Amino acid sequence: MTIKKVGVLGGGLMGAGIAQVCAQAGYRTTVREISPELYERTLNRISSSLDKAIEKKKLTARQKTETLANLHGTTQMSALNDSDLIVEAVTENIEVKKKLFAELDRLCSPDTIFASNTSSLTVTAMAAATSRPEKFVGLHFFNPVPIMKLVEVVRTIQTSRKTFDAAFAFAKAIGKTPIQCRDNSGFVVNLLLVPYLLGAIRALERGVASIEDIDTGMTLGCGHPMGPLTLLDFVGLDTTYYIANIMFDEYREAHYAPPPLLKKMVLAGFYGRKSGKGFYDYSGDTPVPNDLRM
Ligand code: CAA
Ligand code: NAD
Repeated sequence: MTIKKVGVLGGGLMGAGIAQVCAQAGYRTTVREISPELYERTLNRISSSLDKAIEKKKLTARQKTETLANLHGTTQMSALNDSDLIVEAVTENIEVKKKLFAELDRLCSPDTIFASNTSSLTVTAMAAATSRPEKFVGLHFFNPVPIMKLVEVVRTIQTSRKTFDAAFAFAKAIGKTPIQCRDNSGFVVNLLLVPYLLGAIRALERGVASIEDIDTGMTLGCGHPMGPLTLLDFVGLDTTYYIANIMFDEYREAHYAPPPLLKKMVLAGFYGRKSGKGFYDYSGDTPVPNDLRM
């Protein structure tokens, strides 16, 4: 199986990063968003990420031009029909993802490999919405995609060896380090990371320490690059809330249950960096703790 053309469904936080690394590695990459304005936002995100890479001397101006030349944006699902691989990175909602994959199944060649970047859903549930479960894998990237090295390559009980090998080789070809995982909710990383992040919210709810001190505790005490509340703002509190609900539903283990504070923050529109406010307020030059009035 030779992968030359890649389709990316969704150009948000993750889809933009995935499209960038594919285009940077020389793949012709088409991103589908739901409106031209949202695709414009995707392109701006990619362009400023490439500028940052130039600033850090990881990329040349010429490579930026070449990367952008490999990228195409569309609002039409049919524009993905000649892709060799499609990576889905839309909102973490099983009904939305199943509907999209069922539509793609009708549009694409039977040889196209389908992959989902889901954080917590089972890949098998999405594969069941198509007629090609043997051509279906999980390709789970990490945020920020251009920097984080890992990709979890997820095999379901139906994924063919050929499909899995092609997806694993693709992850290597775009410069990532793949690991092999079974299709269990949260795979390896989120199975361990999500209870830790939710635990930090519970610590805040209980008044154990302030937002800043919880973060300082984990950066200076454990050498993490970011404290858990900063990381939650980075991942997106809306996305974390979906993930917690899905994992709690799957495992019925208390440490996956979304804390009430997380729900309240999502209801208040505090999604983290992407909405300008989460545990921190990003409206000024440097983030300051959000006054949550608890
Ligand atoms: N392109 C390429 N390289 C870049 C770059 C870019 N746009 N921007 C920075 N870099 C490089 C830098 O040159 C540097 O490389 P070297 O170490 O070789 O010099 C490296 O990336 C780090 O860059 P910075 O020093 O500018 O960044 P930083 O030290 O402020 O770190 C961070 C930023 C990498 C985001 C760091 O804070 C971090 O690792 N945070 C934790 C992120 C994390 O845990 N992500 C996982 C989230 S969970 C998830 O994704 C799964 C899910 O399903 C929810
Ligand atoms: P996001 O909200 O930033 O982006 C989702 C994008 O999908 C939005 O831009 C939206 O317009 C688009 N979209 C929705 N329906 C669409 C459709 N029908 N067709 C095309 N585009 C559509 O979310 P995100 O953080 O990028 O997360 C996307 C996926 O990646 C989720 O499954 C999430 O669990 C997973 N993930 C997220 C992270 C993270 O740190 N945020 C890390 C790894 C995996």
